[in-house]
Amino acid sequence: MEISIKNLSKKYKGDKYGLKNFNLELKNGVLGLLGPNGAGKSTLMRMLATITKPSSGQILLNGTDITKSPNALRKLLGYLPQDFGVYDNLTAVEFLQYIAALKGYSGKLVNTRIEALLEELNLSLVRDQAISTYSGGMRQRVGIAQVLLGEPQLIILDEPTVGLDPEERVRFRNLLSDLSGERIIILSSHIVSDIETIANEIAIMYEGQLLTHQTPDIILQAVEDRTYEVQLTNEEFETFKKQYLVTNTLRKAGGWIVRFVLQRDMPLPTLPVTAVLGTLEDAYLRIVSAAKNEN
Ligand SMILES: Nc1ncnc2c1ncn2[C@@H]1O[C@H](COP(=O)(O)OP(=O)(O)O)[C@@H](O)[C@H]1O
Ligand SMILES: [Mg+2]
Repeated sequence: MEISIKNLSKKYKGDKYGLKNFNLELKNGVLGLLGPNGAGKSTLMRMLATITKPSSGQILLNGTDITKSPNALRKLLGYLPQDFGVYDNLTAVEFLQYIAALKGYSGKLVNTRIEALLEELNLSLVRDQAISTYSGGMRQRVGIAQVLLGEPQLIILDEPTVGLDPEERVRFRNLLSDLSGERIIILSSHIVSDIETIANEIAIMYEGQLLTHQTPDIILQAVEDRTYEVQLTNEEFETFKKQYLVTNTLRKAGGWIVRFVLQRDMPLPTLPVTAVLGTLEDAYLRIVSAAKNEN
């Protein structure tokens, strides 16, 4: 399967663009969509899920424009919106049966599939309780179960790890890696560590535009030989953070251990620094910060 996004724009009221002249090629595999809040991730995903229409541009699914004929895509789609509202009075089982009916699935296999999903998403114990009694993480897992019902070929997950605790995150990651293969999976986050171990490719967005679309290895090159740590007093830190791109901090008696990335043409500070291995988060912060400074 191939999806080709061409010159896609979404204009909201008041001349505000959610997405502007956006281009992206999607192939089978897991794409991690990263960007700060407001970057346009949800706008893009809603158009891919055919929930909203673009203001201009095209989304081609194996060559067919889905903005004109959405049904071909809808049959293949599993979508978890960012603000996933559930039917609170239903139990998990009832809700999944309801979604299955909406999607036109019936028969014994549906119930087998629902049971398997409840098991995989650790919802078996609460399967017959009303969703209104669930925690945030449990609700999110019901949302993920709903996505996976029909073994979709295109899976779109908008901030799927919000509300999951560390253990649930690990389980979610394993579930996704079981799924990957002959399908397209797109998941968004503003937290790099949530997607870096799952995604084969990463797209970084900012202000409705694509900054980069690459494998994690190539994106990492943005911080190769330019990531350091330095120990600073509270006072030093105040001036330091105005000059350098700080990507992490750790409190230490009387001051800070500061992690930073050297941006283009910046000299090293005249302080004892330690070179460290750059991470995907360092690279993401450098790429977004460079885009910010251009504006
Ligand atoms: N329904 C809407 N009406 C007006 N503006 C919107 C709407 N949805 C999103 N936006 C704006 O479009 C931009 C992109 O938003 P969004 O796609 O939600 O970003 P993200 O998901 O990356 O946080 C933001 O500036 C946001 O305020
Ligand atoms: Mg969003």
